[in-house]
Amino acid sequence: MTTITPLILISELPENSTKGIKLGERNLFAVNHQGKLYLYENRCPHKGIPLEWMPDTFLDVEKQFIQCATHGALFTIDEGLCIAGPCTGATLTSIEFVIIEGQICLASASETHR
Ligand code: FES
Repeated sequence: MTTITPLILISELPENSTKGIKLGERNLFAVNHQGKLYLYENRCPHKGIPLEWMPDTFLDVEKQFIQCATHGALFTIDEGLCIAGPCTGATLTSIEFVIIEGQICLASASETHR
């Protein structure tokens, strides 16, 4: 059985914007960049803490990279690869998603026990 969990409407995520998403204990964020959508865990691989400067603010000023607010690590938007900063070579955790009726959703397979 597949469990679908809606996260946000794509219409709430304009081009070049980012949005933090709380899902229980999980902290995620979505990015809309050059017409593509990305979803990552909101956790810097350097210290394991949230990345954003301010609520819903995850990109550098030029909006070319995801930037950690704490020590300034820069991550590519498309792969989450750190290309500068104390965790160079590490990656953000990318989250798979599906789009259903204009919403970004998590789709997780759950096993049924009999
Ligand atoms: S915690 Fe993100 S660069 Fe140090």
